[in-house]
Amino acid sequence: MKILGIETSCDETAAAVVEDGVRILSNVVVSQIDIFAEYGGVIPEVAARSHLEAMMPVVKKALLDASCTWNDIDAIAVTHAPGLLGSLLIGTLTARTLAILHNKPLYAVHHLKSHVYANWLEVTKSKAESSSDTLKAVRPSLWSSDDSALDSSSNLFATPNFPLLALVVSGGHTQILYMPGHNKFEIIGTTHDDAIGECFDKVAKILGLPYPGGPSITRAARGEIEGATRPGDSDKYKLPHPKVEGLDFSFSGLKTAVLRAVQKELGVPISYPSHKLKELLSAEQVCDFAASFQKTAVEILVEKLEMAKREYPETKSVVIAGGVSANQALREALPEAYFPATFLSGDNGAMVAAACYFEILSGVNPVNPYKLNIYPRISIQD
Ligand code: KG4
Ligand code: ZN
Repeated sequence: MKILGIETSCDETAAAVVEDGVRILSNVVVSQIDIFAEYGGVIPEVAARSHLEAMMPVVKKALLDASCTWNDIDAIAVTHAPGLLGSLLIGTLTARTLAILHNKPLYAVHHLKSHVYANWLEVTKSKAESSSDTLKAVRPSLWSSDDSALDSSSNLFATPNFPLLALVVSGGHTQILYMPGHNKFEIIGTTHDDAIGECFDKVAKILGLPYPGGPSITRAARGEIEGATRPGDSDKYKLPHPKVEGLDFSFSGLKTAVLRAVQKELGVPISYPSHKLKELLSAEQVCDFAASFQKTAVEILVEKLEMAKREYPETKSVVIAGGVSANQALREALPEAYFPATFLSGDNGAMVAAACYFEILSGVNPVNPYKLNIYPRISIQD
């Protein structure tokens, strides 16, 4: 079964064709990062307009790359929730129109389910975009140092086993989900305030690093920014772990702790305009703050995941999902967990098609293309 997946929940316009939920035939992502790097964050109206311009060329390229015509497509899947209202509207209106025009069943997929199902997508040696680093990132513990043992079509893939725990770490969400089986989700931990990706983005802004904050913080932690002569020292600044009960998270305190630590280091009062702090920081200080923050953020995630494993001892696999799953420090801290290939960590259409396939297997019905609604804030459990 070939499914066309369409994703526009935030600032990526994406479409992909996936066969049987696991084989990526094409995966086209047009990112608006360059536009928003200038503003330091996403501007919803601009995002929607950019989706509108990119959407149809992206869909056409996804079909072309997969060597598919509309006759080959069995279903269309689209993100209808959660996300930015205008962005979701462009994707769903496109999918609805295409479903009616080409007489295809239409499925509405929750964005966080898609991120989780990115872990079911196969990455074969011939498909993996670039270096062996991409492959190692897929499943470090499965990686053999003798890569000659893998022929050009070998599949490094082993699918996660149920029951599993999914740690969702994206720009808008931080949750631990318990999954007893396909398409069954129970939220067992969630953030009380900021999401982890949002925290990376806000800390990057304080440090004067470009949006999106995740990759910028990693580069700075490695000392890969202008003027830096060494990697950041991750033990330089002691940042607190939030005291949150059970499996829940809180990240707004960590962001404020970085802000206070920067103010203290620079000897300025807390009333000092935060957008001017970056002008006073040296490259080395930026690297040290980035490394210290990243280390603390990873420690907090790992701690809660370990706690969840103790509370759910029947857990057979742990999967990590969402944009922050691209983080190398997090990957290294969780060598036994499943991570999507780094190019599938962020928003893409392949994961939407994968999630849709497993929904269909679980008995989920198509939606009415004349009536499909969007839900910018709905939970994965609703
Ligand atoms: O899942 P995603 O692409 O979009 C949402 O559904 O929100 O996640 C975007 C988030 C951003 O906050 C971005 O800073 C973060 O993922 N991110 C990272 C990395 N790459 C992207 N965070 C930490 N390390 C990274 N390498
Ligand atoms: Zn996402």
